Amino acid sequence: MSKKFRVFATCDIGESLELLRKRAYEVEVYPEPQAPPKKLIIEKVKSGIDGLITTLRDPIDAEIFAAGKDTLKVVAQMAVGFDNINRADANRYKLPFTHTADVLTEATAEFAFFMLGALARKMWSAEHLTRENKWSFWHPYLPFLGDEVTGKTIAIIGTGRIGLAMIKKCCGFDMNILCYDPAYQNHEYVKAIQETMDLRHAKGIQKEKTWIKYTSFEDALKQVDFVSVHVPLLREGESETPTYHLFNEKNLKMMKPTAFLVNTSRGPVVDEAALARALKENWIAGAALDVYEKEPLPADSPLRDPAIEDRCRLYPHFASAGKITRLSTDPNKGMAGRCVQGLIDVLEGNYGGDITKMPYVVNKEAFGKLTNIAS
Ligand code: GLV
Repeated sequence: MSKKFRVFATCDIGESLELLRKRAYEVEVYPEPQAPPKKLIIEKVKSGIDGLITTLRDPIDAEIFAAGKDTLKVVAQMAVGFDNINRADANRYKLPFTHTADVLTEATAEFAFFMLGALARKMWSAEHLTRENKWSFWHPYLPFLGDEVTGKTIAIIGTGRIGLAMIKKCCGFDMNILCYDPAYQNHEYVKAIQETMDLRHAKGIQKEKTWIKYTSFEDALKQVDFVSVHVPLLREGESETPTYHLFNEKNLKMMKPTAFLVNTSRGPVVDEAALARALKENWIAGAALDVYEKEPLPADSPLRDPAIEDRCRLYPHFASAGKITRLSTDPNKGMAGRCVQGLIDVLEGNYGGDITKMPYVVNKEAFGKLTNIAS
């Protein structure tokens, strides 16, 4: 490698940064645990760095790309979601950005499933009862009961990688599954799950026959006991099927009053004010959230209302927060490893320098022709 690359990471992403240093990269890391101010990112980009490592907390748009015009060569994001990166602006500046899809799929889906279970079976309230020494007798139904998950019906909203992994977990719990996706359907996968369900039933592994099928959004919401959200955040103008406030007052009211909502996708997919009302006025039975319209969740959020505390589980954008998933240096296992590999691919011109062939680049559409940007 002839050139020494300079990289700024807006966050410490662990040991994977050492891989860059071993390759003689000059790596500077923002030392605080909070996100750096945008002003500082612009300053660093202006100083002539070749690569910028970001997390979902950093707003990356034309201002950043303009600051790095002629010098910045790649933005490598440690996340699968990239709604913090303005794709149209990146394309205008012909700046490739990468993400870390796949490696967090199973971790996120399993956490969504655990959230669902914790919510339905009232595990938080049950632990509080025990810890606060309010468990004064065993009783068949007092002080409360939970709702079983096994054998129930779930709607999977969004059948991309994480939605499909969630389907797999729900299949193991003998659930019936309704699928909805505004843009992408995987009928092969759904067929394979149905065959798995049929085999499990035929072999006596599950007592009842279960089923899976695609349906409309309305149909899914109206029928199910659980709704799990796995769509990317797409605002008006970004897509023909935007997902911003997909769960608004009208749609929440379509759900059964006994149904539960689980969101591990992006906060703005759910209108939080409407959801708080839905919980307070019992339009639905409960919600478990890992993502919010504003993160961290503000102190005055209506979701913190003690009146809905037992039916509203709140987690700190934690679904992918497994040790291996977050930090493994192996690009096939860890977000950090994959993030760094995405950066290396672009800077060192892997895949013959053809950005359209680099697996972790998101905005391939901006690089129709062979674009060798490695120097
Ligand atoms: C987490 O939310 C991610 O997008 O990776």
